[in-house]
Amino acid sequence: MKSFKWDGADYQQFSRYQTEQGTELIKLLNVRDGEKILDVGCGNGLLTIEVARESPKGFVVGIDSSEEMLRKAEKNKKEQGIKNITFQLKDAVSIDYENEFDAIFSNSVLHWIKDHKKLLKKFYKTLKPRGRLAIGFASKGNKGGPIKVELEEEE
Ligand SMILES: C[S@@+](CC[C@H](N)C(=O)[O-])C[C@H]1O[C@@H](n2cnc3c(N)ncnc32)[C@H](O)[C@@H]1O
Repeated sequence: MKSFKWDGADYQQFSRYQTEQGTELIKLLNVRDGEKILDVGCGNGLLTIEVARESPKGFVVGIDSSEEMLRKAEKNKKEQGIKNITFQLKDAVSIDYENEFDAIFSNSVLHWIKDHKKLLKKFYKTLKPRGRLAIGFASKGNKGGPIKVELEEEE
């Protein structure tokens, strides 16, 4: 199957809705300074930059499977003079972190990924104990507010 080809400049021009919804999601995440945060499907990096500004003593890793989007993210990071972000080319389902991040942020991405069961297991492993997960699927008609879920490890 042919995968979708992202265009960073084009996305930036037509993604005001996603950026606005993502900004709301960042407020819900309630980032504390010093936290280490993973942005899954960071795209053009504009929201990653907002997250990094909330944690100047911490660090944000933005991963995305599109080189083109990451090029735009690096450009935005440089233009905005942000230092505490690393962007990496990575498929979300293949991440292999363990107990590394205080929170995972992912806006407007999970509907592009099929294997949610595998992905959520990876997210669980990635997070430190009591880590937080903020995922947004903003679209007209979707639930507006946050849903709180407490996760338990499978036996
Ligand atoms: C609609 S954009 C959202 C970008 C950004 N999070 C935002 O809200 O502006 C979706 C992004 O998800 C990325 N993506 C899709 N499938 C992915 C996967 N399996 N692993 C990592 N990134 C993925 C795409 O490359 C694209 O940059």
